[in-house]
Amino acid sequence: MELLTKAPKGTVDLVPGATEKWQAAEDVFRSEAELNGFSEIRTPVFEHTELFLRSVGDTTDVVEKQMYTFEDKGGRSVTLRPEGTAGAVRAMLENGLYNAGYPVKLYYLTSCYRYEKPQAGRLRELHQFGVEMFGAAEPVADVQVIALGLGAFKRLGLTDVGLQLNSIGCPACRKEYHKALTEYFGARRDELCETCQSRLERNPMRILDCKSPVCQEIAKGAPKITDYLCDDCRAHFEKVQELLTALGIEYELDPGLVRGLDYYTRTVFEFPSKSLGFALGGGGRYDGLVEEIGGKPTPALGFGLGLDRILMALEQQGAEFPEPVRCEVYLAAMGEKAQKEALVLMDRLHKCGVAADCDLCARGLKAQMKYADRIGAKYTMVLGDNELEAGKAELKNMKTGEKVKISIGEGFIDEYLTAATAQDDLSF
Ligand code: HAM
Repeated sequence: MELLTKAPKGTVDLVPGATEKWQAAEDVFRSEAELNGFSEIRTPVFEHTELFLRSVGDTTDVVEKQMYTFEDKGGRSVTLRPEGTAGAVRAMLENGLYNAGYPVKLYYLTSCYRYEKPQAGRLRELHQFGVEMFGAAEPVADVQVIALGLGAFKRLGLTDVGLQLNSIGCPACRKEYHKALTEYFGARRDELCETCQSRLERNPMRILDCKSPVCQEIAKGAPKITDYLCDDCRAHFEKVQELLTALGIEYELDPGLVRGLDYYTRTVFEFPSKSLGFALGGGGRYDGLVEEIGGKPTPALGFGLGLDRILMALEQQGAEFPEPVRCEVYLAAMGEKAQKEALVLMDRLHKCGVAADCDLCARGLKAQMKYADRIGAKYTMVLGDNELEAGKAELKNMKTGEKVKISIGEGFIDEYLTAATAQDDLSF
């Protein structure tokens, strides 16, 4: 029975009190994306499993251990999205978004699913804000994307976010690098964890991202990708750094940063939170992915930021969030007739954009006023037979106690707005 009242492991409910904070953060992300010319995309929560095998890569932790994969009733293998990039690429191709000309700039706020061991900052249902840009090969695009992420962190008031940067080259320069890695790790094969032993031939770069302490220790002495970059990749990486400097963006070069997903090429980056000790987001270029999924060769790049972690960081920093919308007018009613009138007046207020509420639980007047107090109503109005007969009722300012009689007939909205404006003027 406990199962019925417990959310599945690794998931959290966002309840009133938290949702307002999420909305405030999401507003910042939306607005920062739109300022940079990105438009929202929404893709299905599940995709054909093959899409993730081809994009994320079958030697990654995400594919090997973390996917929520199941057969639907038609016998097709589908997977809950573990990340947002693959679906965005598929949707960009399927909907021919490239027909409107490059660059195509998309953003999303979405949930993702990874079967991970839940702990602080690691969930099975996680939420991401992501951006993806298609058709822009120039280093200036890398820098716009990075600056967008940092701009959002700054607007949220997060002060301890860093930028770690690396280039993992293109398939051409990676050929030599893979050879060097296979040689290096091959010599210590027996010490590697079982998964890494199997990765040795298939994808030795993945060993650099292994979480096992032994593999991590061995990886410290491994050859560095930056020593193997071809001329074009090196020039691209140098330009990215030059442009970051031009924007006054500080970064730390980390030649061991390879990211956990296989589609990356050239620039990769992460935004670590120094106080939380984990990444708030990460991304990079994936110039080969569009072609891999069936499109024409198209340079592309993007990032995903972990909203759950960002909200944690904001809480930890004691960030201030805007006050939630609160009830402006509570219409208390005595008797059935007055109840009907309260409903009508509430509806008129709503249509004018005024937050209003009335009794829904057949409470007595005292209990209604207590409720109005609890929800923080700015004004109350009591409606009874006398008020209905007179066509007027008292609007009471709950803070100052000031009362103004206003019409509850035709002139209700005008008189309410006049009274409320005058009282707001008084209280300032
Ligand atoms: P990722 O590094 O796998 O990249 O995830 C991005 C961010 O999502 C992480 O930095 C972290 O903040 C958050 N995150 C990941 N897993 C979890 C989890 N289990 N619990 C809580 N937060 C988590 C991607 O997903 C790429 N699609 C990013 C990208 C977009 N690259 C290019 N475009």
